[in-house]
Amino acid sequence: MQKNIRIAPSILSADFAHLGAEIRAVDAAGADWIHIDVMDGHFVPNITIGPDVVKALRPHTPKTFDVHLMVAPVDPYLEAFANAGADIITVHAEAGAHTHRTLQAIRGLGKKAGISLNPATAESALDYLYDDLDLILVMSVNPGFGGQSFIESQLRKIENIRKRIDQLGLDIDLEVDGGVNAGTVRRVIDAGADVLVAGSATFKGGADCYADNIKALRG
Ligand code: DX5
Ligand code: ZN
Repeated sequence: MQKNIRIAPSILSADFAHLGAEIRAVDAAGADWIHIDVMDGHFVPNITIGPDVVKALRPHTPKTFDVHLMVAPVDPYLEAFANAGADIITVHAEAGAHTHRTLQAIRGLGKKAGISLNPATAESALDYLYDDLDLILVMSVNPGFGGQSFIESQLRKIENIRKRIDQLGLDIDLEVDGGVNAGTVRRVIDAGADVLVAGSATFKGGADCYADNIKALRG
C-alpha cells in the first residue's frame, strides 16, 4: 500500500561548510527524513562524506537518517554507519555479489535495510530479497552527482515494484532518487513511490525557500 508521501532532502546539495545548520533548516522547513549520500570514488565517480560526518550531524535533528551508500565493497562499513546514527542503511544491488547477506547484516545491526537499483538494473534483481527489505530505492539518475535530469524509463520500474510490494502485502517503502522536482514529482507519485529524495529541488534559493520548495514536492 502506498503510504503518505515523505520528502527526504539530499544534503548533497546543501552548503557543505554549514551542514549542521542546513539540516536544522530543512528539518524546520518540513523535511520528513534526511537523505545522506555516501560516495566512495570507486563505485561512483565522486567522493562525499564518511561515518564521522554522519556522527557529527546526528545531534542536529531527531529525524530519520536515510543513508544511501554508493560504496563497494560495502560490508566493511556497515557497522560504522550504524554506530554513527543511521536509521536506514541502503546499499546498491550492483555493489557486491552477496547482497542477501549484506541486508541481513544491516538488520542484525538493528537498522532498517534498503536496496538501491541503478537505472540499468532490472527490478527482477529484487525477486529473492523482498522478505529482507524495509526500503527499495529506485535511482532515476545514474548515481554520483546531484542536479541531473530524471530518466523517464524508471517510471515503469517504479510501477512494477509497487505492484509487487502490494501483491506481497509487505511493509516496504518505495523511494525514488534523482531529478525529482516540481515538474516530475506527480508522475513519480502516480507510479507508486512514497518517499521522494530531492537535492537540488530542496536546497535551491537558500534557507528562506526550503519550506516552499518542500511543499512543492508534495504533489
Ligand atoms: C545521486 C544521489 C542523489 C542526489 C539527488 O547520486 O544519490 O541523492 O543528491 O540530487 P537531485 O535531487 O538534485 O537530482
Ligand atoms: Zn541518494
